[in-house]
Amino acid sequence: ATILALHGPNLNRLGTREPGTYGAATLADINQRLHEQTSEAGHHLLTLQSNAEYELIERIHDAADEGIDFILFNPAAFTHTSVALRDALLAAAIPFIEVHLSNVHAREPFRHHSFFSDIAEGVISGFGAQGYELALTAACRKLR
Ligand code: DQA
Repeated sequence: ATILALHGPNLNRLGTREPGTYGAATLADINQRLHEQTSEAGHHLLTLQSNAEYELIERIHDAADEGIDFILFNPAAFTHTSVALRDALLAAAIPFIEVHLSNVHAREPFRHHSFFSDIAEGVISGFGAQGYELALTAACRKLR
């Protein structure tokens, strides 16, 4: 199966961005680990990070056309703002897991609402970079 890891705004700054909140791992570290874990499971991984909402929307549209089987998505700040990304996922009808490095529920109230959680297969929040491994494990189980 083909899995898409989609990373939202500012996640290209991981490693230097608020390391106390988001950890020391860079996005390259996270993607490399995901690539290893995906190929060990016999699947194929594609990745995209974008700071632009429309690029993430268009990637989701293309994912539907390409027949991508599963998405791991950290919408970052768009979690709390983007009806358009929610609608793109509903239109694509591709199962996805919502991932956050930090525990959004232990942070500011504006981070407690997500436009994605109720349409996600599940949500992983607060386990740092390991959250992506946990999400991929869950995705592979669902893809069996
Ligand atoms: C985040 C949490 C969001 O609230 C924040 O805007 C981010 C990252 C996380 O991974 O913890 O950019 O999605």
